Amino acid sequence: MVVPRVRTGVPGLDEILYGGIPERSIVLLSGGPGTGKSILGKQFLYNGLRAEEPGVFVALEEHPVAVRRSFRHFGWDITQYEREGKFAIIDAFTGGIGAAAQREKYVVKQVDDVHELSDVLRQAIKDLGARRVVVDSVSTLYLTKPATARGTIMLLKRVIAGLGCTAFFVSQISVGERGFGGPGVEHAVDGIIRLDLDEVDGKLYRSIIVWKMRDTKHSMLRHPMDIEDDGIRVHWDEYIRVSGNAVRIEKIPGQEAEEMKRAVEEAAKAKVVEVREEAEEE
Ligand SMILES: Nc1ncnc2c1ncn2[C@@H]1O[C@H](COP(=O)(O)OP(=O)(O)OP(=O)(O)O)[C@@H](O)[C@H]1O
Ligand SMILES: [Mg+2]
Repeated sequence: MVVPRVRTGVPGLDEILYGGIPERSIVLLSGGPGTGKSILGKQFLYNGLRAEEPGVFVALEEHPVAVRRSFRHFGWDITQYEREGKFAIIDAFTGGIGAAAQREKYVVKQVDDVHELSDVLRQAIKDLGARRVVVDSVSTLYLTKPATARGTIMLLKRVIAGLGCTAFFVSQISVGERGFGGPGVEHAVDGIIRLDLDEVDGKLYRSIIVWKMRDTKHSMLRHPMDIEDDGIRVHWDEYIRVSGNAVRIEKIPGQEAEEMKRAVEEAAKAKVVEVREEAEEE
C-alpha cells in the first residue's frame, strides 16, 4: 500500500525517510541545546508554504518577534504568507504582555493552560486550512509537571492529527541524555527524530538519526548534518560513527542509496496524482 507522505523539503531528510513523513504523523524532534531543532522545524514549515501547504508555528520558547527574525536569518520570508493568511505564529510566550504582543492575532493568555492552547491552535488550523504544525517546544508544557506529559501530548495530537495536519513537536533534552523526552511522550508520538552534537578532539560534529517512524521504512544509520546560511542539510548518502575519540564518516551501501532515491521520486509522483484528483472533484 502507498502511504501518503508529507515531504519535508529539507535536503537529505526525505531520503532517509524513504520519501517523507507519513501524513498526520506527530513527530518528536528531540535533541540537546543548539542541535538545530528549532531551525529544522522552521525549514519544514517554510518548505510547506512554498508547496501551497499552510502552516502554524506555536511559539513557547521565543517571542514571536524573535521567531520571525529567525525565519529571516535563513532567507525564509514569511511576511507575504502571514499577510495572506497561510502562515501564523501562535504566541504562547508573552501571555499577551507588551506592545508587540498586542499586535499578535493568536495569543494564549495563560501560557501554562494546555486547554486554552489547544483551543487557539484548533482555531488557527481551521482559519488557515493548515497542513503543517510545529510546537516549539512541548517540553515547556510539562517541565514542572512531568506526570501530565502524556496527557498533554495526546490532547495536542488529537487536535492536530484530527484536523489532518502533520507536526513536529520539539523536545528538549540535556547534553548526554540518552532518551528523547520521557516514556509517556516517546510512545505517544508516531515518530522520533533525534539531533545530536558530539564533541571529539575539540570539534563538534552534527548528526541526525530517525529512531522510529510508524508506517514506513527509514534509515537505521546516523547521518552527518550541517547547518548553513540557508538552513539544514542532511548527508543522506553518508553515515557517521562516533566512538571514543574517533569519528568516521563513510558512504552508505549503494543499494540502500538507490532505494532511497527511488522512494523520494515515487513520493513526488504520488503527490502530483493527489493534487490532480482534488482538482477534478471541483
Ligand atoms: N547561519 C548559520 N550557519 C551555521 N550555523 C548556524 C547558523 N545559524 C545558526 N546556526 C547554528 O544553529 C544553532 C541553533 O539551532 P537551533 O536554534 O535550531 O537549536 P535548538 O536545537 O532549537 O536549541 P535549543 O534547545 O537551545 O532551543 C546555533 O547554536 C548555531 O550553532
Ligand atoms: Mg530551539
